[in-house]
Amino acid sequence: MTAINVAIFISGYGSNALNIIEYFDKKKSINIALLLSNNSQSFAIEKGQEKGIETVVFNNDSFKNNDLLLHYLLSKQIDFIVLAGFLKLIPKNITHHFAEKMVNIHPSLLPKYGGKGMYGKQVHLAVLENKETESGITIHYVNEEYDDGHIIFQKKVSVEHGDDVVTLTKKIQQLEHKYYPKIIEQVITSIVSKEFK
Ligand code: GRF
Repeated sequence: MTAINVAIFISGYGSNALNIIEYFDKKKSINIALLLSNNSQSFAIEKGQEKGIETVVFNNDSFKNNDLLLHYLLSKQIDFIVLAGFLKLIPKNITHHFAEKMVNIHPSLLPKYGGKGMYGKQVHLAVLENKETESGITIHYVNEEYDDGHIIFQKKVSVEHGDDVVTLTKKIQQLEHKYYPKIIEQVITSIVSKEFK
């Protein structure tokens, strides 16, 4: 059976992207085929290149021409999309084409602390300001709204007295790195088993 080709979209540092690339490195059935960023400073772009992964840095204007992007993904035979810290809203033609074949990770227990502008530190600051006793991660399918698609997986972590943005970020990042690759693998495996039934 041919491998499932995955594209990862990032906007920031890309620690999740690198972790996912590492996880699937030796797995034959899932191929990380493309790493795309709208930020030329993304650390993972350079690292991805070193690992021989095709990387693309695009500007936000070219992202607006979403027919071009969809055609590009199809020309690369992409089967599945992973958003890992990608901050732009995904255009409708792409969410439709990749319905239930595109996932995102969010650093809170959605529906709490999601939506436009809620990313990175802002999420953790809001959690701390509201004196939440727990936070966590959410992995969900992507639809045409920010952080709104069907939830696939959540994992909680305690917010302890004395936690700050730095400690909470670290706790959440550990959860992300532990679970995101495994959940991606489960989702793709389940799609493949349905399509070949
Ligand atoms: C992660 O916290 C993820 O949940 C959110 O963006 C962050 C990306 O971090 N969507 P990194 O660039 O993978 O280090």
